[in-house]
Amino acid sequence: MRKQSILRPPKCIPGGLRTILCFVLFSSLFVLIVYTSHISYSDFVFTSFGTESNDRIVFPRYIKNQISYMQSQFGILLEQLHTERSESKILVKFSDQVLQIAVSLDRLAESLSRHYSNVPADGKDITKVDEYSSTTEEDEVEEESLHGKVFNSAELQNYTSPKPNKPRGKKNFLGLESVYPSIGQGCARLASTLDRFMTYKAYDICPDDWDLAQKLMISGCDPLPRRRCFTRTPLRYDKPCPLNASLWTQPRDVDISWSRYKCKNYRCLVSNGTINNRGFYKCSDCFDLTKRGWDGQRDKDISAEFSIDEILMLKPGEIRIGLDFSPTAGTFAALMKEKNVTIASATMNLGAPFSEVIASRGLLPLYISIGSRLPFFDNTLDIVHSTLFLDGWIGIELLQFVLLDWDRVLRPKGLLYVDRFFCKKENMKMYVDEFDRIGYKRLLWKVMPKMDKLDDELFLSAVLEKPVRG
Ligand SMILES: *[C@@H]1O[C@H](CO)[C@@H](O)[C@H](O)[C@H]1NC(C)=O
Ligand SMILES: *[C@@H]1O[C@H](CO)[C@@H](O)[C@H](O)[C@H]1NC(C)=O
Ligand SMILES: *[C@@H]1O[C@H](CO)[C@@H](O)[C@H](O)[C@H]1NC(C)=O
Ligand SMILES: *[C@@H]1O[C@H](CO)[C@@H](O)[C@H](O)[C@H]1NC(C)=O
Repeated sequence: MRKQSILRPPKCIPGGLRTILCFVLFSSLFVLIVYTSHISYSDFVFTSFGTESNDRIVFPRYIKNQISYMQSQFGILLEQLHTERSESKILVKFSDQVLQIAVSLDRLAESLSRHYSNVPADGKDITKVDEYSSTTEEDEVEEESLHGKVFNSAELQNYTSPKPNKPRGKKNFLGLESVYPSIGQGCARLASTLDRFMTYKAYDICPDDWDLAQKLMISGCDPLPRRRCFTRTPLRYDKPCPLNASLWTQPRDVDISWSRYKCKNYRCLVSNGTINNRGFYKCSDCFDLTKRGWDGQRDKDISAEFSIDEILMLKPGEIRIGLDFSPTAGTFAALMKEKNVTIASATMNLGAPFSEVIASRGLLPLYISIGSRLPFFDNTLDIVHSTLFLDGWIGIELLQFVLLDWDRVLRPKGLLYVDRFFCKKENMKMYVDEFDRIGYKRLLWKVMPKMDKLDDELFLSAVLEKPVRG
C-alpha cells in the first residue's frame, strides 16, 4: 500500500480543505499583523524583556488569545489533513508544510509566553488592542482549566485511560489489573501541541513530525504518549554495514531521513563550507568519523584529555558497561567498543541525525532528554562519561540533580568520567565544589586553560570513583 502512494499520480488537494486553509491562514495572520502593529515593531523585536525598565513591553492578553485561536485552528486543519483518505504526494507535502507553520506558530507562542504573565490585573497597561477582544472570557477559562479537561485530542483521552487486562479482573505480571499509560505533567502546559502530536490516522503512516515530538520532550512533556501509526522509513534503506566495519564508516545518505534537518546529506554535516548553516552547534566535527578523538596524538602538557587506555587501566577488566551522556555521534562508545566495553550513547537529535549515525555505527543510541531520570536501575553501571554537555551553561541546581542521578546508576566503585568540562575561570571553583560534594575519590584530575580566542575559560577533566555507601 505504501509503495502505491509513491507511484500514483498526485491528486489535487481537495477544494474544501484548501478553502479552510486559506481562510485560517490569512485571517489569522491578518489579525496578528493588525493587532501587533499597535505596538512599535522595533520594540516588539528588540526591547530587552528581562529588564524592568519603563519601555518594557507588556503584551495584551488579546494577542495571546489570537495565537491560541490560531493554534487550535491549525490543530483542526491538521486533523482534517491527516484523516484525508487521499495518498497523493502533494497532500503529504502540503500537510508537512502546514505542520511547519504550526510549529513556528508554537515557537512564537512560546517565546512570547513570558511576556503576558505580568499584565497587571487592573488593566492599566492594557492597550486599546484589548477593546477588540471578544474571546477574552472564553480563553481565560481555558487558561485556568488545568484542573479540568486539559487535552482535547480523542486519541490522547484513549491513551491515558486505564487499560484493563484481557481476562478482566485478573492481575498481570506487574501485579496490576489495568495498565495506566502516563504522560508527564509538563504536557499540560503544552496541551495544544500535544493534541496536535496525537492527531493522526490510526494504522496509517505517521506525520513526519519527530521534531515536534522532540520539542515536546525538551520542553518537559516527557514521556510522550505512544501512537498507533507507522513511522516513515528512509525509502531506500538497504542493510547496515557489518559490525567490524561500521564503527568508523560514514552512513549512506539514503539510510537517513533528512527532511527535518537543515543538512540534506552527510557531506553537509562535515564540510567546512556549511559550518555556520548546519543546524547544530555543539561538537562541530563530531560527524567526521575519520577523527578518532581521544585517540589522536596529544601533547600531555597541554591536552585536557585522558586516553581510553588510561581510564581502563584504572580498573583492568572491571569496566564493562556504561553510559555516555554527550551530544556526540558515538565516538566514545566506538573507542570503548574496540576494548569490548558496551556504552549506551545518550543524545537527542539536536539539529542533526545524531541517533541515526550512532545506530549506523552499530552502537546503542539512547534517546533521552536532559529533563529525565535515566532509564537504568540503581548501582548498575561501571562508568558514566560526559563531554560537551554540562559545560559552563548549566545552573547549579540542575547540575545537582543530574550528578546525583548519575551517582544513582553508577555501581559502587564505578567511574564518573567528566571529560573536558569547561567554564569561565571565575566559575570553576563553584563547579568543582559541586563535583566534590558527591564525595567521590579523585583518580585522575586535570585543570587546564582552554586555548582559544578568549582565553578566559578552563577545562576540567576528571575520573572520579563512587564510594560504597552505608
Ligand atoms: C477510543 O476508545 C473507545 C473505547 O475503547 C473506542 O470506542 C474509540 O473508537 C476510541 N477512539 C479512537 C479515536 O480510537
Ligand atoms: C569483517 O569480518 C569479516 C568476516 O568476519 C571479514 O571477512 C572482514 O575482512 C572483516 N573486515 C574488517 C574491516 O575487519
Ligand atoms: C576545515 O577547516 C579546518 C580548520 O579550520 C582545516 O584544518 C580543515 O582541513 C578543513 N577541512 C576541509 C575539508 O577543508
Ligand atoms: C575483545 O574480545 C575479543 C573476543 O573475545 C577478543 O578477541 C579481543 O582480544 C578483545 N579485545 C580487547 C581489547 O580486550
